[in-house]
Amino acid sequence: MEAYLDYNATTPVDASVLEAMRPYFTEEFANASSIHRKGQAARHAVEHAREKLADLLAVEPGDVIFTSGGTESDNLALRGTMVSRLLERKHLVVSSIEHQAVLSTAKYLGGLGCEVTVVPVNAHGIVDLDILKKSVTEHTSLVSLMHVNNEIGTIQPISEAAQIAHEKGAYFHVDAVQSFGKMQIHPAEAGIDLLSISAHKICGPKGSGAFYIRKGLKIKPVFYGGHQEKNIRPGTENVPAIVGFGKAAELAQKNRTTESKRVEGLRNRLEEGIWKKIQGVRLNGDPKSRIYNTLNVSFEGLDGETILVNLDLKNIFVSTGSACTAGSIEPSHALLAMGLDEKMARAAVRFSLGRFTTENEVDYVLSELPAIVERLRKSAT
Ligand SMILES: Cc1ncc(COP(=O)(O)O)c(C=O)c1O
Repeated sequence: MEAYLDYNATTPVDASVLEAMRPYFTEEFANASSIHRKGQAARHAVEHAREKLADLLAVEPGDVIFTSGGTESDNLALRGTMVSRLLERKHLVVSSIEHQAVLSTAKYLGGLGCEVTVVPVNAHGIVDLDILKKSVTEHTSLVSLMHVNNEIGTIQPISEAAQIAHEKGAYFHVDAVQSFGKMQIHPAEAGIDLLSISAHKICGPKGSGAFYIRKGLKIKPVFYGGHQEKNIRPGTENVPAIVGFGKAAELAQKNRTTESKRVEGLRNRLEEGIWKKIQGVRLNGDPKSRIYNTLNVSFEGLDGETILVNLDLKNIFVSTGSACTAGSIEPSHALLAMGLDEKMARAAVRFSLGRFTTENEVDYVLSELPAIVERLRKSAT
């Protein structure tokens, strides 16, 4: 038996996504900028994928550009905005639980002379709107806030934050990598100017992302080169990856209601089972304002990495902290930002479920985890 509960790190590619991509590696391999018939076929596929993403975001296709993933889109949002408005406004605001794609970029920009404010979150990982309001000034160029946190799954008050940013003339960027395709996110309705999304969190291919830019808003590119993607993201389009993202978005849209209910049921089954069978467990994140597929818990007195390794021996695959920082000895910055002490932060394990998770997998975890926790606790005393 095997259980893959690490969907927030990445997801398997859906078979129909792979099928949709396949021709663009072989017969339909042409460059989407070539003007011959084969090039036109590739261009058509790119534009069709763009329409699918735009459909899910309820925006115009022309406002969506393709990138290599969430990291690049986040870089575009922060670097592109700060550089384009540097003469007028030097201030950048981010939250303390952003993904490293935002936090490291903010640090880089700080090194270049931008002023960076990191706004704290409460004990449930929700950004403090009062502090956000006090932090945003007439000098603020951009406020960047994630929609759903990758580690704990908390959902941020996006519309309220957008309003705060706009009151002072700042742009508002949302990293929606963990929510796109799982929850409704309509930039125009929510007051979002810039949005980052990624294919591999919704059963699409890795290395495929997109970026929404509100019409009329000007940002600088991060890369320079050809004229692709409206001069904002030059480079030959990765047609198979783009097609795969389009197909993944279409599937996400079609399955969202049923999938969210089913996965939430499984997540709750796992959560209730852990609570029933194991003592000394703490839920990390907001019990209510939390995405349906994520469960992050600390096991008192234990080390999350040790639990992970023991689960791995039983073919159960989970994460501690975010995947990008797993393997490093630092505890999760998001959990520390929520006020967990280092011990409780290190004791955290993230279970994240998705399209192919089954009840059998959840039950398998519930049959193995209690014994592992008990054995580790015994050996620790
Ligand atoms: C919230 C968030 N932002 C950005 C990223 C980076 O996306 P990508 O892996 O497509 O570069 C991730 C990936 O884990 C994420 O969870």
